Amino acid sequence: MENIEVLLKIKEKYYPSEDIIKKAWIKDYENLYKESLQDREGFWAKVAEELHWFKKWDKVLEWNFPYARWFVGGKTNITYNCLDRHVQNGKRNKLAYIYLDEEGREVKVTYGELLELVCRIANGMKSLGLKKGDRVSIYMPNSVEAIAVMLACARIGVIHSVVFAGFSEGALRTRVKDARAKAVFTASYTQRRGKKIDLISVLEKAIENLDFVEKVILWDRDKEGISSSKGFVDFEELVKEADSFCKAEEVNSEDPLFILYTSGTTGKPKGVLHTTGGYMVQTYYTSKVIFDLHEDDVFWCSADIGWITGHSYIVYGILANGVTSLVVEGAPDYPDPGRWWSYIEKFRVNVFYTAPTAIRMFMKYGEKWPSKYDLSSLRILGSVGEPINPEAWHWYHKNIGRGRCVIVDTWWQTETGAHMVTTIPSYPAKPGKAGKPFFTVEVDIVDKEGKSLPPNTVGLLVIKSPWPSMLRTCWGEPERYEKYWNSIPGKVYNTDDLASYDEEGYIMILGRADDVINVAGHRIGTMEVESALVDHPAVAEAAVIGKPHELKGEIIKAFVILKEGYQPSEDLIRQLKDHVRKELGPIAVPEEIVFVEKLPKTRSGKIMRRILKAKELGLSIGDISTLED
Ligand code: WT7
Repeated sequence: MENIEVLLKIKEKYYPSEDIIKKAWIKDYENLYKESLQDREGFWAKVAEELHWFKKWDKVLEWNFPYARWFVGGKTNITYNCLDRHVQNGKRNKLAYIYLDEEGREVKVTYGELLELVCRIANGMKSLGLKKGDRVSIYMPNSVEAIAVMLACARIGVIHSVVFAGFSEGALRTRVKDARAKAVFTASYTQRRGKKIDLISVLEKAIENLDFVEKVILWDRDKEGISSSKGFVDFEELVKEADSFCKAEEVNSEDPLFILYTSGTTGKPKGVLHTTGGYMVQTYYTSKVIFDLHEDDVFWCSADIGWITGHSYIVYGILANGVTSLVVEGAPDYPDPGRWWSYIEKFRVNVFYTAPTAIRMFMKYGEKWPSKYDLSSLRILGSVGEPINPEAWHWYHKNIGRGRCVIVDTWWQTETGAHMVTTIPSYPAKPGKAGKPFFTVEVDIVDKEGKSLPPNTVGLLVIKSPWPSMLRTCWGEPERYEKYWNSIPGKVYNTDDLASYDEEGYIMILGRADDVINVAGHRIGTMEVESALVDHPAVAEAAVIGKPHELKGEIIKAFVILKEGYQPSEDLIRQLKDHVRKELGPIAVPEEIVFVEKLPKTRSGKIMRRILKAKELGLSIGDISTLED
């Protein structure tokens, strides 16, 4: 990746075409942004009025620092807005999803069919004794079935907690346990590169002795009759036997919608809690105006529902707009690197949303793959998950966008729930810079004391006022929630991202300021990997850092001190990697492991990862201490 000095000097600007501007919902970013700051609450109230409420809110915002409540007193149901509203408006037979798997299977589901499936699952859940406020974990592949389970939870006020199906038993157990899930939905397997990855055995180990898990509901994909032999509830039978309509529960705007676990610097993953009304309004509106969605658009977000990107931009925000979108299971380059482009051609995708790490992978395969396909349907390209380096930006723009499309680089986090900084389609973009704050969003770049920094200086990105889709708390750990708002003086929300803005106010994100590692757009906590390593009998101590990597952004490098009696060896490295894979999953496996005698520590015994990192990058410790705490 380019170095910071080079990045800071980017001046190049790309202007959208007349066609893009003509079509865009919003043509005048600057004025609307200024206006939105004058009346934040009025702005969001107007957006909220585009959606259905059983009872209108009494108050748009109640801000009791650092706790926010949005659309207070309002009653709604997000699934009513995602499904019933469209079915009633003549879209019963419109496609909601086109599901595609690695083997060429194609399943089309209309809004009417999705509503019925969701209702049946919701009724089935009720028959199992699940009720409003209960937590349900979802450990399923990227599929319409998993999405329908999420929506069924929301339909009846059950709080879902989706766990990425690529996580292994330790990671799954931590999440199921922390949420005290009363039931877990799973599937017999998930596809990856032509293989069926078994989910059942992982789940069984993960929930061993967790007595509060009363039911496991299994989607037996190949109808092998596994459910009864395991004592699980069979998903298809549950659906078949349930009533086809379930009225949407009229929930309060601030009733919890879901928990999604994400990594921080310390401790176990945080259960980020999102509630209904504000999350619904902001995911709906950002989908609408940032992806510039119109009635006949076909949208495709290549993320997995196991991450926030999937929650907000495969499921809730996208369905709320009533468009057709793709749900794709499996690897991007399997059976060949033309897979994704063939879908864009076949389904005439208009708006495509992916991550820089995927773009860099396709760069490696070469232009010959996308060039075989007709990508002329594309209008808008999105990027998310990590900074998009200018080289990848240009490749994406030229080879996928064919020079005609705009690129919206969207910066946000699990915690923010929806896009916060981006360049909307009608506004000129600068490659490598996310761009401008979204409407009503007030950001700043500050030092550790909260002092605003001048342009072209690197500091911490903070958000100065509450926004509708912000996290409301960390599940069971309010002190961790409060830390977001009190770690920097000035009552601001600390994103823990390093950023800088230029003279024109374009914001560039440079990466995490904390010890969180961003591997291929996946957020991994150093602590979690270290704990998994230390859990192995040979390991006395471990420290992990993120090391820059051409394709993945960062990879994990581990420094390990062995216990007495253990010798460094290639075989032991393999064992340690296997151990982390089994505990946390493939994405958390350190690509490099080295054995050391000692680790740099503070007087109080805290491992100084930044020293390890500075050494790794060949920097002096001083160089890096300006970047990291
Ligand atoms: C972190 C949040 C929210 C989407 C998926 C990741 C990094 C996210 C961008 C972007 C530069 C980005 C940040 C952020 N990030 N989008 N467009 N440019 N960096 O969600 O797992 O909660 O991770 O991803 O470092 O803090 P997440």
